[in-house]
Amino acid sequence: MKASPLAVAGVVLASAAQAQVVQFDIEKRHAPSLRRRDATIDATLSNEKVQGGYFINVQVGTPGQNITLQLDTGSSDVWVPASTAAICTEVSQQNPGCTFGSFNPDDSSTFQVVGQNLFDITYVDGSSSKGDYIQDNFQINGLTVKNLTMGLGLDTSISNGLVGVGYINDEASLGTTRSTYPNLPVVLQQEKLINTVAFSLWLNDLDASTGSILFGGIDTEKYQGELTRINIISPDGGKTFTEFAVNLYSVQASSQSGTDTLSTSENTLVAVLDSGTTLTYLPQDMAEEAWNEVGATFSSELGLAVVPCSVGNKNGHFSFKFAGADGPTVNVTLSELVLDLFSGGPPPQFSSGPNKGQSICEFGIQNTTDAPYLLGDTFLRSAFVTYDLVNNQIGIAPTNFNSTQTNIVAFASSGAPIPSSTAAPNQSNTGHSSSTQSGLSAASGFQDGGNDNAAPLTSAFSGPGMFVVGMTICYTLLGSAVFSFRWL
Ligand SMILES: *[C@@H]1O[C@H](CO)[C@@H](O)[C@H](O)[C@H]1NC(C)=O
Ligand SMILES: *[C@@H]1O[C@H](CO)[C@@H](O)[C@H](O)[C@H]1NC(C)=O
Ligand SMILES: *[C@@H]1O[C@H](CO)[C@@H](O)[C@H](O)[C@H]1NC(C)=O
Ligand SMILES: *[C@@H]1O[C@H](CO)[C@@H](O)[C@H](O)[C@H]1NC(C)=O
Ligand SMILES: *[C@@H]1O[C@H](CO)[C@@H](O)[C@H](O)[C@H]1NC(C)=O
Ligand SMILES: *[C@@H]1O[C@H](CO)[C@@H](O)[C@H](O)[C@H]1NC(C)=O
Repeated sequence: MKASPLAVAGVVLASAAQAQVVQFDIEKRHAPSLRRRDATIDATLSNEKVQGGYFINVQVGTPGQNITLQLDTGSSDVWVPASTAAICTEVSQQNPGCTFGSFNPDDSSTFQVVGQNLFDITYVDGSSSKGDYIQDNFQINGLTVKNLTMGLGLDTSISNGLVGVGYINDEASLGTTRSTYPNLPVVLQQEKLINTVAFSLWLNDLDASTGSILFGGIDTEKYQGELTRINIISPDGGKTFTEFAVNLYSVQASSQSGTDTLSTSENTLVAVLDSGTTLTYLPQDMAEEAWNEVGATFSSELGLAVVPCSVGNKNGHFSFKFAGADGPTVNVTLSELVLDLFSGGPPPQFSSGPNKGQSICEFGIQNTTDAPYLLGDTFLRSAFVTYDLVNNQIGIAPTNFNSTQTNIVAFASSGAPIPSSTAAPNQSNTGHSSSTQSGLSAASGFQDGGNDNAAPLTSAFSGPGMFVVGMTICYTLLGSAVFSFRWL
């Protein structure tokens, strides 16, 4: 989840170390398994298909309290819900409580408050968590980081905590103390568990159960072709970096009936790679074109673009190209872009119109009004992405879905370039491809090209009652028109 914008303070990352990597596997659902491998550390992240997001199991305090936290490249603080928070204690039919675990400071002998009432984070979807900055031991697979600075959510609208792995210049402490602190990726490097402040994320297939985050290295078995380096875009011309923002040069829709470049009136598209956001958010005009290609419609009841689930079986893909005409491209197939609205129980159906009787799914590309645009899990699953916070570069390549092999290569030293990567040629941080055609030549391939004979899709959504059970749609605050929904 992208944290809401904050004042930025200049900070220099510490460096100098020896070589190692720290890896956490990402696993769907609740089956974390942590293991240590040579001089590297593996853990497991679980893909929560119902509420969305990738989760990691950790222990906090002494003795360690098990807590499952969402991995988030869009924010920079680790925080845990306090077991006394109302969202954890006031369990009801609408609120299952803190099912991912919560932290009770009274049960930890190493707990200390380092900033009372100074933890206050708000994400662009309007959710928030407030409380204290604390320090305590943070354990992953038997590896203990002592006195890690974390937030303790005493008053939180989110029932699970997060592991934010972004730049320290995006820490929530900037809003209260005007200062930053070494967060998890920085501490791993300072404690010489990894050589440089960098990590790679492989989320794997929508239907697969495991993926991984690897601190300090890359895994050459987890992608296809070349790992290509592109620049992270800084809001102030390179002085400070706050988020994993890159130039999105073009988005193309391709099916067996044709290829279209989606058009937009924006001059340049900056998109943030955000593992904490479930869907992908593009400008209104571009998103609407994508919807028209696949036959998605916007449901005002859900506040989401929805699509018949059968579209997920069609052939075709969207190609995302970065940092110029010769930049790296990641193709995302329709099967990765059509998501169940619910799990458990039959999916809701269109109750009228041409799609009557067809199951409703959410579409992986949504609209938003404000830059930066967000490339969430519906994009990230199709890519292997390395985040290098020292050189301020992203390494990106098409993923190797369901790879069972591993070949980990550590960064050589602090500030070393991403291993086995090549720089994108003719890089550009601004501009995007201009679309000449205005047709939807790929549309018939997307909508009729598969086995199903789906009728032409039109706006036909009705019957909010059956969809809204147990679900709240959180609309945007803070002027960033990003929304997401969560089950309460
Ligand atoms: C914590 O989780 C581990 C496995 O992930 C389990 O073996 C252990 O029993 C759990 N401890 C508690 C207190 O729940
Ligand atoms: C952690 O904090 C405690 C209490 O302030 C201190 O005694 C200890 O030395 C600290 N440990 C590390 C590794 O900084
Ligand atoms: C990956 O594995 C899952 C099952 O674990 C399967 O459903 C999916 O189709 C596989 N994906 C690819 C691209 O082979
Ligand atoms: C991605 O799609 C484009 C156009 O549809 C195609 O030319 C390219 O080969 C694809 N790339 C991969 C890695 O499949
Ligand atoms: C998304 O598009 C729909 C349909 O055009 C519109 O009603 C809605 O307000 C848009 N949402 C945002 C966040 O811009
Ligand atoms: C792009 O880069 C390649 C190799 O790096 C070079 O040969 C080519 O001339 C460049 N093209 C443009 C338009 O700059």
